[in-house]
Amino acid sequence: MFTTTRLSLLLGLILSTAHNAFIAAQAGVSIEFRKESSIRRPGGTFDYDAALEQIAHDVNKYRTNLINIKRNVGVQGWNEGAELLPPRMYIPRHRKRQSENLSSEEGGTYWIGNISIGTPPQPFRIDFDTGSSDLWVVGNNCSTLSCFSKNTYNPSQSSTGASQLGNFSIQYADNTTVSGPIFTDTVSVGGINATNQYFSPVNTISQSFATEHLDGILGLGLPNASQLNQTPWFYTARAQSAVSEGLFAMKLTNTSSNLYLGGTNSSLYTGDFESHPINSSFYWLIPNGTLVLNGSALATGNTIIDSGTTLIYGPPDAVSSLYQNIPGASLYDLMTGMYSYPCNSTPHIAFNWGGRNFNLSAASFNLGNVPKNKTACVGSILGADLGLGSNVWLLGDR
Ligand SMILES: *[C@@H]1O[C@H](CO)[C@@H](O)[C@H](O)[C@H]1NC(C)=O
Ligand SMILES: *[C@@H]1O[C@H](CO)[C@@H](O)[C@H](O)[C@H]1NC(C)=O
Ligand SMILES: *[C@@H]1O[C@H](CO)[C@@H](O)[C@H](O)[C@H]1NC(C)=O
Ligand SMILES: *[C@@H]1O[C@H](CO)[C@@H](O)[C@H](O)[C@H]1NC(C)=O
Ligand SMILES: *[C@@H]1O[C@H](CO)[C@@H](O)[C@H](O)[C@H]1NC(C)=O
Ligand SMILES: *[C@@H]1O[C@H](CO)[C@@H](O)[C@H](O)[C@H]1NC(C)=O
Ligand SMILES: *[C@@H]1O[C@H](CO)[C@@H](O)[C@H](O)[C@H]1NC(C)=O
Ligand SMILES: *[C@@H]1O[C@H](CO)[C@@H](O)[C@H](O)[C@H]1NC(C)=O
Ligand SMILES: *[C@@H]1O[C@H](CO)[C@@H](O)[C@H](O)[C@H]1NC(C)=O
Ligand SMILES: *[C@@H]1O[C@H](CO)[C@@H](O)[C@H](O)[C@H]1NC(C)=O
Ligand SMILES: *[C@@H]1O[C@H](CO)[C@@H](O)[C@H](O)[C@H]1NC(C)=O
Ligand SMILES: *[C@@H]1O[C@H](CO)[C@@H](O)[C@H](O)[C@H]1NC(C)=O
Repeated sequence: MFTTTRLSLLLGLILSTAHNAFIAAQAGVSIEFRKESSIRRPGGTFDYDAALEQIAHDVNKYRTNLINIKRNVGVQGWNEGAELLPPRMYIPRHRKRQSENLSSEEGGTYWIGNISIGTPPQPFRIDFDTGSSDLWVVGNNCSTLSCFSKNTYNPSQSSTGASQLGNFSIQYADNTTVSGPIFTDTVSVGGINATNQYFSPVNTISQSFATEHLDGILGLGLPNASQLNQTPWFYTARAQSAVSEGLFAMKLTNTSSNLYLGGTNSSLYTGDFESHPINSSFYWLIPNGTLVLNGSALATGNTIIDSGTTLIYGPPDAVSSLYQNIPGASLYDLMTGMYSYPCNSTPHIAFNWGGRNFNLSAASFNLGNVPKNKTACVGSILGADLGLGSNVWLLGDR
């Protein structure tokens, strides 16, 4: 399984609310994913603006996580060197977005699955995100143009919906926010119902969400990072025994992808899983990951596994050393820490947590060729400080 998928990394990881291990089982349910968008433009050229938008989104998401964690548990320096950085803006450089037709190729990469909220059920297209801990969907009072093509939540049409105190707000890439009131209702994923689940039907969405074919995000992250400071959906479902085991798995490929809740589907993989403690009450963070290039260990660090992030971010020095070891590679963009490398070179990059190597496929490493230079390609590993502290790698799922 590890060689046939675009994302060899996430595939083999099972995230368990037990903070440890996994138990193989076949009692869960499957939610099929549809893959959306790409940082590569038609023809295989790297799309700088789309990448920039994605980077700003990722940076701001972890900024929000830091704010939430500080507010929830009073800790900022959860890891040495962690600090709140200023919000990152998305400033298009190479083209004017408004004057160009937007296609589904823009933005990052998302795996979208269906959920429903309320009684009777109202359907939504959702990005399942292990890097955040709240559920939000577009609410029926969102009147901006960017909400036009969205499915919206209407509380007056749900017999189980209830308004709650407070507001929800996240700042995203284009300096606009996703914000709205707070409700509870029944949230159903693959037929698994969590009742009285906290979520936000938002009144505003950022422009960057307008063109994406999704109506909201369901956070599969840990409770301490919740902006609502409420129990995330999977934890609610587990506490209500709606899901048979505190275990979920994702299979992410470019053709067939799904989320499996309450176990693993042994038809979808071969070999054995590895088990590692996450050693964090904030993120799905595995300590002591090793970056391997052509069989040699290059760096070690704490690794956050994030299905809602597209790219891979590492400490700038370690990433610089990675590309220094790829002949012909060079810094492509100082601001974002992106590097280019010769398209025809085949660096074998892998991550290792003490067991097997989890290979990054050549296709997953390649974000497309540099405009004006068909022989140089942009790599999906970026050297960037996201404020997460020293020696933290953020592993997205492109
Ligand atoms: C497990 O995967 C197989 C192969 O895709 C599929 O036929 C089967 O329905 C899946 N089982 C469940 C419970 O989703
Ligand atoms: C999600 O729901 C839409 C609309 O009901 C449907 O067309 C689509 O096939 C569903 N997707 C999946 C993966 O189930
Ligand atoms: C944008 O789309 C419209 C309508 O489909 C089309 O008429 C127009 O030529 C397109 N513009 C560009 C720049 O592709
Ligand atoms: C889950 O909730 C939906 C919508 O409220 C309802 O139609 C369905 O019967 C519920 N399923 C279970 C197993 O309770
Ligand atoms: C939309 O506004 C109406 C009227 O104020 C209110 O009853 C309803 O709860 C609002 N919907 C959401 C999702 O906030
Ligand atoms: C939530 O936002 C609304 C509209 O902006 C505002 O009227 C209300 O006071 C806010 N409530 C809280 C608890 O912040
Ligand atoms: C971003 O938003 C904040 C608060 O709304 C505002 O103070 C700041 O000037 C904005 N920055 C840009 C670049 O628009
Ligand atoms: C899916 O990924 C495989 C392996 O990386 C690649 O060969 C294939 O062209 C991809 N298919 C699509 C539709 O992108
Ligand atoms: C877990 O994290 C703490 C705090 O960062 C660190 O002191 C400890 O060594 C880590 N444990 C392992 C097993 O990596
Ligand atoms: C974070 O969450 C865990 C588990 O829910 C809890 O035990 C812990 O006390 C929380 N706070 C911190 C600072 O880790
Ligand atoms: C991680 O590395 C540190 C330092 O090398 C070591 O003390 C610790 O036991 C390791 N943790 C795990 C889980 O291997
Ligand atoms: C194009 O990229 C290749 C590979 O990175 C590099 O060797 C070459 O110098 C570049 N050509 C130009 C004109 O920049």
